Amino acid sequence: MDNLIDIKGVRHAYRTKAGPLPVLDGLDIQVAESEFCAVVGPSGCGKSTLTRLVAGLMRPDEGEVWLHGKRVTSPRKTVGMAFQNPVLLEWRNILDNVILPLEIVAPSMPRRDRVARAEALLEMVGLSGFEGKRPSELSGGMRQRASLCRAIVHKPDVLIMDEPFGALDNFTREDLWQTMRDLRAKEPFTAVLITHDLRESVFLGDQVIVLSGRPARTQYVLDVTLPDDRTIDILYEREAGEMLHILRDQIKIAQGRGAAEAQ
Ligand SMILES: Nc1ncnc2c1ncn2[C@@H]1O[C@H](COP(=O)(O)OP(=O)(O)OP(=O)(O)O)[C@@H](O)[C@H]1O
Ligand SMILES: [Mg+2]
Repeated sequence: MDNLIDIKGVRHAYRTKAGPLPVLDGLDIQVAESEFCAVVGPSGCGKSTLTRLVAGLMRPDEGEVWLHGKRVTSPRKTVGMAFQNPVLLEWRNILDNVILPLEIVAPSMPRRDRVARAEALLEMVGLSGFEGKRPSELSGGMRQRASLCRAIVHKPDVLIMDEPFGALDNFTREDLWQTMRDLRAKEPFTAVLITHDLRESVFLGDQVIVLSGRPARTQYVLDVTLPDDRTIDILYEREAGEMLHILRDQIKIAQGRGAAEAQ
């Protein structure tokens, strides 16, 4: 089957006053349709840069980024994005925040249909009854749920998330992981998730990509062979434990503290 996302031999350096700063140096990532790809790597290695490439917000010096059989050369409307701090508009209520991408991508869609779509998503993430609230009236976890709904309301080709759960406390974060899996079960989507949290990567991912230290290359790809209907408890079982072990070792290598150099 064709890959939905195909990143081939991507190299990129930022031009800085001090000269070129190589950030990506041989990035190869393949993500199939409806697959969830988690990406981990040392701080500052180039993970957010990778999200900008997939969204078409920048072009690499070398290599190719393909999305749905088309080469990405300019910003894509068909990409949904979610970040650590949900950027919800305070002058709109939650429902109208979730609807926003539809206004841009599907301007001819009747308001009635937009509302129905947004309400259905808000219900899936447990936010029914909060449609009329302002973002500041919600907790951080609830805001993040709303921002996830907004990111997928227009059925984007891919949902790109850059540490969306990073600012949440542990329990809220685990709740959101489960919500994310429940959401995917009801409405499959393709996702790229950048995270610092190895447990998060194993729980949410179908594959976990470990990037090397800067300039980043694809250092290791872990196939997460856990059942699709997993719950948080699975993280305490042997198979997940072994995967976490492998990832920890790979991160040490990426940070240059491993026993052996990566290949
Ligand atoms: N627009 C830019 N111009 C110059 N340098 C940049 C730019 N954006 C990022 N960088 C540098 O490129 C490197 C990679 O940045 P990037 O934000 O992609 O890393 P990251 O892996 O997301 O980091 P973190 O784990 O801290 O989120 C960093 O050294 C950063 O300072
Ligand atoms: Mg980043």
